[in-house]
Amino acid sequence: MTDKLIIFDTTLRDGEQSPGASMTRDEKLRIARQLERLRVDVIEAGFAASSNGDFECVRSIAAHIKESIVCSLARANDRDISRAAEALKPAARARIHTFIATSALHMEKKLRMTPDQVFEQARLSVRFARKLCDDVEFSPEDGYRSDPDFLCRVLETVIAEGATTINIPDTVGYAIPELYGQFLRHLRERIPNSDKAIWSVHCHNDLGMAVANSLAGVKLGGARQVECTINGLGERAGNCSLEEVVMAVRTRRDYFGLDVGIDTTQIVPASRMVSQTTGFVVQPNKAVVGANAFAHASGIHQDGVLKARDTYEIMRAEDVGWSANKIVLGKLSGRNAFKQRLQELGIEMESEAEINAAFARFKDLADRKSEIFDEDILALVGDESVTPDEEHYRLLALSQRSETGERPFAKVAFAMGGREFHTEAHGNGPVDASLKAIESQAKSGAELVLYSVNAITSGSTESQGEVTVRLQHGGRVVNGVGADPDIVVASAKAYLSALNKLHSKVDRVAAQG
Ligand code: KIV
Ligand code: ZN
Repeated sequence: MTDKLIIFDTTLRDGEQSPGASMTRDEKLRIARQLERLRVDVIEAGFAASSNGDFECVRSIAAHIKESIVCSLARANDRDISRAAEALKPAARARIHTFIATSALHMEKKLRMTPDQVFEQARLSVRFARKLCDDVEFSPEDGYRSDPDFLCRVLETVIAEGATTINIPDTVGYAIPELYGQFLRHLRERIPNSDKAIWSVHCHNDLGMAVANSLAGVKLGGARQVECTINGLGERAGNCSLEEVVMAVRTRRDYFGLDVGIDTTQIVPASRMVSQTTGFVVQPNKAVVGANAFAHASGIHQDGVLKARDTYEIMRAEDVGWSANKIVLGKLSGRNAFKQRLQELGIEMESEAEINAAFARFKDLADRKSEIFDEDILALVGDESVTPDEEHYRLLALSQRSETGERPFAKVAFAMGGREFHTEAHGNGPVDASLKAIESQAKSGAELVLYSVNAITSGSTESQGEVTVRLQHGGRVVNGVGADPDIVVASAKAYLSALNKLHSKVDRVAAQG
């Protein structure tokens, strides 16, 4: 048994399954690069067989990432596994992660297969995957609610067929820490060849115990891989949060006795990048990465921290990357300084024309805002990363009027499918008026299910406002994000960005559908 804990990040696969969190290829690549800077051991880049778009994402990440293992999910069938292997071809180090449900409920109601059929499919799939890749992970979906005898039979066989990692998902977040840890331990004790594979935990957060369950799987169950996502992003209540697991194992090394290879100073930058890209805002009191995580508001605490840091602090803010929040550029910064900062942030632009367009936006922003932070640059590049095919809608101009005692009014000019529209509307407030004006012409019929505004950097009113708009239409949910020092403009951008996502045809097979 090794004393290293493998960190397997699935932000780009399981995290992305969260309604509204879908990302473009460039966004995923940017996050994959940040995950590599964070030194995660494995990046699950997507589910190659689900769509051509996902296939391209996995392939592009496989081509660019050199240090981390790049992994693709595949259902337990030859087609999915071949697509995963094909997408992973350019990878320096590749892994195929194949899965099939093993709980009685899932086998009967979802797969409509008998246990013997599932057993055979698991066996043949791992055998086939091993012909294409040396590194094969197997997951019995809904493993925690599966019959232990059946699970032992399946897992012993897939290990014999060459599975190198065995992952036990608590797919529906039903587990309790002690019970989950014992479950893993019993499996490992009962399966004769269990020592031939690395054991892994994959916990969902429906009862708020994903991190606790994962840690119990490590401590009591002997798992040496944790599957997790940045900010705990994921369907429903999310997945196990990477930053919490890593900092728990680091801070309590006395208890866990394990090493993690993560560069923890990259945690906060990764958290910001994921939240800005997906529009899933991090709650202020979230452990490690929340804005208040290191803020000592009460006078007593402040006094204690000033006298001796460890009176109230168990981790140092700078160790998880909070100090990375520095002013980097301003109005006088030139194109070279901007280009260099893009490189330091891991943002690669393909052409000089793209850099010029981003630089023009930067100059425009710097005219309106004296201090430009990394987060501002990420937001600015987020706007840029939309390709012309994805940009059916684009904001051209906006003016609005609001005055006490008057009904607010907005005038918006925007492009839709290459044509220009000028529209106006009244509303309850200037944001409402602007969105109503756009909708009166766009006629999307989408329902606005979430609207939120955040200051991108410090709490000052000089900060850019970052708006997230979530729209629902025809069974699809999308998030649009827009940033601008003027929150009404940011709102219009966010609304149009969400309309662009609704407009783009995504024809994707659900992994666990
Ligand atoms: O939660 C789950 O069961 C999964 C598997 C596909 C690993 O995400
Ligand atoms: Zn999952």
